[in-house]
Formats: sequence, structure tokens, C-alpha cells
Amino acid sequence: MRFVLATHNPGKLKEMSAILSGLGVEVVSPAALGITVDVEETGTTFAENAMLKAKAVCAASGLPAIADDSGLCVDALNGGPGVYSARYGGEGLDDKGRYALLLQNMRGQTTRAAHFACAIACAFPDGDTLTAEGRCDGAIAFAPMGEGGFGYDPVFLVPDKGKTFGQLTAEEKDAISHRGKALRAFSEELATYLRK
Ligand code: IMP
Repeated sequence: MRFVLATHNPGKLKEMSAILSGLGVEVVSPAALGITVDVEETGTTFAENAMLKAKAVCAASGLPAIADDSGLCVDALNGGPGVYSARYGGEGLDDKGRYALLLQNMRGQTTRAAHFACAIACAFPDGDTLTAEGRCDGAIAFAPMGEGGFGYDPVFLVPDKGKTFGQLTAEEKDAISHRGKALRAFSEELATYLRK
């Protein structure tokens, strides 16, 4: 069975393919099908945005479509940057600029609690949908640490490990991360759905 993954990111395609191959599911990119779908992420939650993307790609391709949305939610910033994590500070910033801005906005804050969240949605041509979510709790560091990962990884501290996501190996991060958890939950949901 062929599914489309709504992403331009080859890393995400590889990750999803690896976890779903055991279910007899092949995952392809929209580009491989010659489809370009630009979806405005107008949702107020990760789950809403993931579903918007999954439904749009399903409609454009006629195939079941999977999409994800994720971000960092900081308690002291009322849950921000949240669904705006990728756009925090505007278009001109790169990953480093975004986490530097976050540290700046957290200056003097003693409440450092934060979590990463990831939602995965799947839309089928007959209107059926599936969703799965994952969350990883932690804290915002006072300075960046580690070179690994991407995005806000160097400033996201995992208290149990005393390290930031940026200091973990890819395997260590996957075992506890919001995306790892959401992917495993989604794989189970899909397996149950396909058995029906
Ligand atoms: P998207 O879900 O690919 O749109 O990612 C949203 C944004 O959230 C990314 O651009 C990152 O800034 C941030 N983000 C999501 N997951 C992670 C993570 O595992 N580490 C660091 N940043 C992340």
C-alpha cells in the first residue's frame, strides 16, 4: 500500500519509511508523484496543522497522506513559540538566530519548563483519518550546549539526562523525543487500522 508523506525533507521520509515498512506500507514524497501542494498552516494546534496538510495532499494525490507538525512550547512564554516555532522571529532568522532570540526572551526567567510536541495526521481518500501525538518535557537552558540535531536542540535540556537534545546521539534523542514517540504511536494506530 502506497502512502504520501507531506514533506520536502528527505530525512523525515527516510524516518517514516523505516518505521512503516514493517506494515507493508511504502512511503513516497509529493515530489516523487509530481505534486506540489502549498498548505498554509493556519491551525492553532499541531494536530490541526498536521491534518490540514494531510487532507490537502490526500486530495491532490488521491492516495492516503501522512503529515506532521511539531514545535517547542515554553511555559513562561504562554506556550510559545508553539505552532510558530519554525517562523519565530520572522523569515530572516536561521535555527541559531531563533534559539538566540528564545534565550534573549527568557532572560531573567526562573521558570524554564518547556516541552516539544509532535502531531502526526493521516487522511484517507474515503474520509477516514488517524492522529497520533508525542510530547517530551524538559527545560530551556541558560546557554546553548551541543552541536547535534537541529532547530532548538542546543537549548532544550532533558533534566533526566542533564544534557540538551543537542548533546544526545540521534538514537538517544529518538528514544525520548516527541517525534520518536509520535511516530511509534502512529505506527501502532495505523497497524490497528489496517487490520480492520
Ligand atoms: P516542522 O514540524 O517541521 O514544521 O518543525 C517546526 C519547528 O519546530 C522546526 O523548524 C524547529 O524549529 C522546531 N522543532 C520541531 N522539532 C524539533 C526538534 O526535535 N528539535 C529542535 N527543534 C524542533
